[in-house]
Amino acid sequence: MFADKEKCKRCGACFAECPYDLIVEDREGFPKIRLAAKKTCIACGHCVAVCPTEAIVLPEMPVTESLGPEQCAPLLGELRLTADQADQFLRSRRSIRSYKDKLIPEKTVSHLFNTSRFAPSAKNGQPARWIVTRTPEATRKLAELTVEFMAINNVFPGVIKNWEKGIDKVLHGAPHVAVVHAPEDGLNPAEDCSLAAAYFELAAYAHGIGACWAGFLMEAAEGYHPIREMLGLPEGHGIYAALMLGYPKYKYKRIPRRRDVEVKWLG
Ligand SMILES: Cc1cc2nc3c(=O)[nH]c(=O)nc-3n(C[C@H](O)[C@H](O)[C@H](O)COP(=O)(O)O)c2cc1C
Repeated sequence: MFADKEKCKRCGACFAECPYDLIVEDREGFPKIRLAAKKTCIACGHCVAVCPTEAIVLPEMPVTESLGPEQCAPLLGELRLTADQADQFLRSRRSIRSYKDKLIPEKTVSHLFNTSRFAPSAKNGQPARWIVTRTPEATRKLAELTVEFMAINNVFPGVIKNWEKGIDKVLHGAPHVAVVHAPEDGLNPAEDCSLAAAYFELAAYAHGIGACWAGFLMEAAEGYHPIREMLGLPEGHGIYAALMLGYPKYKYKRIPRRRDVEVKWLG
């Protein structure tokens, strides 16, 4: 990390926002990185993102093709949601279990993956990796393997019965399913992947795409080798989230009620 002294106004925001206190003042009060930073910096980019004068450069942040030349996109005021808009958006996302017979363009799915990368992750590790089916045939095969797992283990007889009648209660006939995996020996792979999936699901909703967590598939994938083999899951990786995906067949008109939240206020 370094500061352009021509642009820096010595406002202190980068010092204050660095999660590891890696930025200190030089003799003139300009930000300077501590020596320890080489090992400790998690390249979260907060120092760059908070600087009001574009004075900070952080070469440690990844340069990626997908973001294009605008590596640190400016925040556009006109795109900011009002609190009411954000509340309705978050409250109105639903798990979608009826899908149109229509594929999602790969470009759209890639766009959603790109947004999912901005979910929080322990130490900015960003360990979530995705595997996604391109075709309804591949998606259906994963549902079939899940039912096979259920039959072998004598669980969820209702799901098996439905499958035999041609009703898919595993992936609900979704055209795609996306699985999130990460190295099992990471810091917080379950939380990191769940958050990436949550971001993806919300972004999908914003783009008119329905999603639903595929818990049955996740459970089966845990212990059923044929599923891991079909997915081509790397050795030492665990599956921490899976989402059915497709265009929703129905439009929701209301927000269902939820339990009151239990909170203990302290102090
Ligand atoms: C970890 C997890 C696993 C889930 N597994 C399934 C599943 O296998 N099948 C399904 O239809 N819904 C599944 N769901 C969706 C929940 O049923 C759904 O989120 C809940 O009923 C609330 O509905 P809403 O998401 O529309 O608010 C799962 C959700 C989570 C968080």
